[in-house]
Amino acid sequence: MKEFYYPYLNKYLQFYQFSIENSEDFWSIQANILPWFKKWDKVLESNGNFHKWFIGGLLNASYVCLDQHVINNFNKDKIAYYYENELGETKSVSYYQLYLMVNNLATRLKDLGVNKGDVILIYMPLNIEAIVSMLAVARLGAIHNVVFSGFSKNSILDRIIDSKAKYIITTTHTYRKGKIIDLKSNIDFIINEYKDIKNVILFDRKKDYKIDNLDPKYIVIDNLDGYNYIDPVIVESNEPLFVLYTSGTTGKPKGIVHSTGGYLVYVANTLKWGFNLGYDSIWWCTADIGWITGHSYVVYAPLTLGVSSFIYEGAPDYPDPSKWWALIEKYKITEFYTSPTALRMFMRYPLEYIKKHNLSSLRVLGSVGEPINPEVWVWYFENIGNSVCPIIDTWWQTETGGFMIAPFMGIIPLKPGFASLPFPGVVVDVVDENGSSLNANEKGFLVIKKPWPGLMKTILNDEEKYNQIYWSKFKGWYCPGDYAIKDENGYIQLLGRADEVIKIAGHRIGTFEVESAILENHKVAEAAVVGVPDEIKGEVINAFVVLKQEFNHLKDNVNIHNEIKQTVRDVMGPVVIIDKIFIVDKLPKTRSGKIMRRLLKAVLLGKELGDTTTLEDEASIEEVKHAYQELKQSLNK
Ligand code: PRX
Repeated sequence: MKEFYYPYLNKYLQFYQFSIENSEDFWSIQANILPWFKKWDKVLESNGNFHKWFIGGLLNASYVCLDQHVINNFNKDKIAYYYENELGETKSVSYYQLYLMVNNLATRLKDLGVNKGDVILIYMPLNIEAIVSMLAVARLGAIHNVVFSGFSKNSILDRIIDSKAKYIITTTHTYRKGKIIDLKSNIDFIINEYKDIKNVILFDRKKDYKIDNLDPKYIVIDNLDGYNYIDPVIVESNEPLFVLYTSGTTGKPKGIVHSTGGYLVYVANTLKWGFNLGYDSIWWCTADIGWITGHSYVVYAPLTLGVSSFIYEGAPDYPDPSKWWALIEKYKITEFYTSPTALRMFMRYPLEYIKKHNLSSLRVLGSVGEPINPEVWVWYFENIGNSVCPIIDTWWQTETGGFMIAPFMGIIPLKPGFASLPFPGVVVDVVDENGSSLNANEKGFLVIKKPWPGLMKTILNDEEKYNQIYWSKFKGWYCPGDYAIKDENGYIQLLGRADEVIKIAGHRIGTFEVESAILENHKVAEAAVVGVPDEIKGEVINAFVVLKQEFNHLKDNVNIHNEIKQTVRDVMGPVVIIDKIFIVDKLPKTRSGKIMRRLLKAVLLGKELGDTTTLEDEASIEEVKHAYQELKQSLNK
């Protein structure tokens, strides 16, 4: 690999040391990145595991993202977003145009009765109207709850009930791989099931969709033309900006709540540090707004910094695998940020798909969502980055708000497969079960030892879970649930989840949720799912299923497999695909009745079973092995 020259490394390490030894001063300086209406009285106040940042500081997120650029005229006509979709339709909006659209929608929401603190559910594909919706909600000091447009109606229902949202913003449909995906019908279901909905704003795309069954709660709009200014509602730094649901090990997805001030300070600074965006940057983060990466690095950070971004509504490899590379060439993308899953998918195709496009506009590449294998890293570096663009592998989570471990752009030497060093102000370690620091190259738990401004506020309606999930394993330290090692130079390599969370294509899926979805099939008595490594998606789901006695005769019928897969798709949406199903009579459980997924995984991976003394019934594991062998044989036939 080409050698880079890092003249500022020592200076940076001093800067990092300052940031952790004088953490409050450091963050106080960084907070000046935002245009506050009033500065904070105190930088940090901690109460147990709950941390407040920039207390007394007053601001508004839509003002931060838009008004500041429009008022000073400097960025007013600068493009905020270039947009394109699968149909080849394009649109670009300047900061000023976005500001007008946001004011318009915020005025409509206000007229409907939306107030500060209300929760608004947004169910939209990745387009300009979706971003306008988030900012319009923020302008009113209300709280958005974005639900990924690939999620099913049941997922929306769970999230709407938990967050008590009374308003929804949605659109008729989206496009994916040449198909029309109906979104409105899912919202029809919600209106029917959940009577507390007051109104639904429906963006009519005026194309390929006939609106019928229009419940009176719908307000249909097809443009945001015309100007209705509305004052941004002033919020205190610690008031919530949004709630975003993510999977955990147990129970339904948790509503991660982020504050306004700390979150914005954190995402804006980290984007600057990670990618060193310039005035002329055309930034493309390929994430959907339904995930944290979309919230932080498609919407809030680039807009706060006044950057021009590109967004694309559609699949990466449709109509062919050169689509993304053609877009990079067309829009002259300068910084590009995507997931290892996408890269692994492109690696399967001949290089011609890439080589026929001029990617010389690229300056920096990024990766997120799952560990990037060194081979993928090198492929990305050589083929997309032309062996000159640094790769910023960013480790972080929904809960952390922004990048935590990543190479500070241009300063930190890169090492394939390693997210490298913690960002300024972030203190990490790799520890054993007892919390003792491990030696170099020993695998252990990643911990974060100091609070930082991007840290979530809490879990919505469940402070106890917040304490228990993240702070109980190692008292006083944040435990993200990832395994890691630290090399001799303190470089961190992430080694995947230490719990039962599965990562499919970088998306976080809880085992419990998938098992509950399988149980929705009335023929199923019990289910256990595990994630197993997959060359493209990182992990895929394998399910072990026990049928109800009256359906046991279907055990060898292949249709039951497809039926269960379809149930999961219906309940959870198309992101959650079950790869293989094994029908068994019994699941391996402990004497206290807990399913031993560890053993299921060991069988699937052909590994030693390890300690089985807590197993209630040895025969169950033999049966699992048998089911596995049988399926393997039938697949080989
Ligand atoms: O396991 C880690 C993995 O993704 C988890 C967080 O998932 P989510 O909240 O959905 O956020 C994804 C986007 C930030 C982490 O606990 N993860 C994320 N980034 C990386 C990663 N694993 C290894 N390397 C990364 N760069």
